[in-house]
Amino acid sequence: MSQLLLLLASAVLADSALTTKYNCPDRCHCHPSSLKQQRLVVNCSNLDFEEIPRDLDPATLSLDLSNNHIQIIEKGSFDNLPYLSTLLLNNNRIRTIDAHAFRNLNNIRKLDLRGNRLTTLGPDTLSRIQGAVDCSHLDPCSINLQDNPLSVVESYALSWCKRLSLIFGNSTTELVVKAYAFYGTEDIKKIAITGVPSLYLEHRIFTNTDQVKLLEISHTELKTIEKFTFEGLTNVNEIRFSHVKFEKIHEFGFSGIFYTPSEISQLTSYSGANQRAGGVFNISQSIIPVLPSDGFRDTNLKSVILANNQIDLIKGYAFRGLHSLYCLELTDNWVGTIKPYAFGSLKNVPRVRLSENRLSHLVERAFGNSKGISKLSLHAKRNTNLSLGSYSFSGLRDIQTLDIKGAPGSRFVVQKDAFHDLGGVNTLQIAHVSLPTLAKHTFRGLNKVQILKLEYCNISHIDGLAFGGTPGAVAVIELNEGNSLPCDCETSKLLRDFQSRFSRFTVTCVTDHSAIKVLKEDSSDWPTCDKGTSIHVLPTYWLSLVLLAYLTCLYT
Ligand SMILES: *[C@@H]1O[C@H](CO)[C@@H](O)[C@H](O)[C@H]1NC(C)=O
Ligand SMILES: *[C@@H]1O[C@H](CO)[C@@H](O)[C@H](O)[C@H]1NC(C)=O
Ligand SMILES: *[C@@H]1O[C@H](CO)[C@@H](O)[C@H](O)[C@H]1NC(C)=O
Ligand SMILES: *[C@@H]1O[C@H](CO)[C@@H](O)[C@H](O)[C@H]1NC(C)=O
Ligand SMILES: *[C@@H]1O[C@H](CO)[C@@H](O)[C@H](O)[C@H]1NC(C)=O
Repeated sequence: MSQLLLLLASAVLADSALTTKYNCPDRCHCHPSSLKQQRLVVNCSNLDFEEIPRDLDPATLSLDLSNNHIQIIEKGSFDNLPYLSTLLLNNNRIRTIDAHAFRNLNNIRKLDLRGNRLTTLGPDTLSRIQGAVDCSHLDPCSINLQDNPLSVVESYALSWCKRLSLIFGNSTTELVVKAYAFYGTEDIKKIAITGVPSLYLEHRIFTNTDQVKLLEISHTELKTIEKFTFEGLTNVNEIRFSHVKFEKIHEFGFSGIFYTPSEISQLTSYSGANQRAGGVFNISQSIIPVLPSDGFRDTNLKSVILANNQIDLIKGYAFRGLHSLYCLELTDNWVGTIKPYAFGSLKNVPRVRLSENRLSHLVERAFGNSKGISKLSLHAKRNTNLSLGSYSFSGLRDIQTLDIKGAPGSRFVVQKDAFHDLGGVNTLQIAHVSLPTLAKHTFRGLNKVQILKLEYCNISHIDGLAFGGTPGAVAVIELNEGNSLPCDCETSKLLRDFQSRFSRFTVTCVTDHSAIKVLKEDSSDWPTCDKGTSIHVLPTYWLSLVLLAYLTCLYT
């Protein structure tokens, strides 16, 4: 008890000592910090100051110099302020920051430089600034440089910074970040560059950086990404681009990054190489002219997510060398062209989702050389065209289920032999796609299909050779609701053909009175041939079909 009293007494004494003894710069408001009684909160905002006051008290914890007319930050301006954790310099006229101006700031929570006139960050202007030891995600510490007409961040401008988020942008000036700008930085929660008209990152800007948790680039036009631009980034959790117009991405553009292995990947043992998998690479709402081959080569990425982008071209082997990949997701993108082998090197990726993309053309061997894709869904979006080229699915050796679905206003164009080489597929379901005629060889090459389901396809005519020449290629066929085969002699012939071909089948037909009849291999009420029948003239070409693209593929 007496100890407690003593403590209290000394606290009060220290406080009163501080209140009586501290230096408060002329015209500023000062008061002891409520959290740390022996520290001082100094407020000099809005006082037309043209320079930093000289007589700052060493106990200063927080210094507000915002909304003044300060133009220069000289070397060592804050040298004798060991406790300084909040430094607000926003809305001044700062044009020049001397090298080492902020040296000895080792305890920063907030350094606000927004709204100044900085055009260049020279070498060492912001180097060696350290965040407080307890900076965290919940209470992040930052240097904010937004709202400056910044055009160049020189090499070593932010070298050796620690435990801080570095925030740039919201300016109307094109920005160039030079090589080594972030050299030696460590434990950086976030580097964010958002809202500049254009951004050029010299390659090797991140040489020797460790633990940049999040790199976020958004609302900008990103100039050419050279090979190994991001090389040196080590222990990254996420790289995120959104609303970015990419100019050109070179091969190996996103290579040279090591992502922090995630705990989940350490728990799930899906394969030896994946034990080190980590990180998310996320591009959304962006324009990508070309996704090059080998862009991510030799990174330990766990997830690659591309959503809501316009991607004009995906080159062959775009995802090669992602040896630890767990999840590849392409959702709701507008995709112009996918080159052969685009997804070609994917091996044993447990989750591949290609959904709701507007794909105009799925080329020959887009999946060539892939392994382990067991389910693929191609779902069309409204009002887009999807064409399946010959051999579109070739290379999907392990596919079990292929699911193709249309949508209103979509066009679906199936080229000859589109399904050829789709050897292993067990279930092929096609729905909501207009297929009025199943022409000769439509399904040629489906050698092992167990179940073929055709629903809501408006099928009204089927060529005898639609399923190829080999009986037994398909075991079960279901032509269910939404087709309009007439209950006539033609259909009866078809059923006889089906009988020799499939072990089981279900066909619905429409009677003269518009009633729906369900016919199976053992039904007793097949249509008879008592009426005269007309022989349909078959088109020898494939009819174009309407469909929009939505493509989901799942590896199990
Ligand atoms: C400093 O004082 C101004 C009013 O004079 C106030 O708006 C501002 O919030 C104060 N700064 C801090 C850090 O409390
Ligand atoms: C961006 O800058 C404009 C004008 O300089 C300002 O009004 C706006 O608040 C800034 N936005 C952000 C997010 O900082
Ligand atoms: C990807 O980034 C976008 C935009 O920044 C965000 O909305 C989305 O949640 C991110 N996706 C994942 C899986 O992190
Ligand atoms: C789809 O194809 C049709 C016919 O080829 C064409 O008229 C239409 O403009 C195409 N639609 C789109 C969205 O490309
Ligand atoms: C099938 O035909 C019906 C009626 O003729 C029509 O309403 C429907 O849109 C057609 N479906 C497709 C997928 O073309």
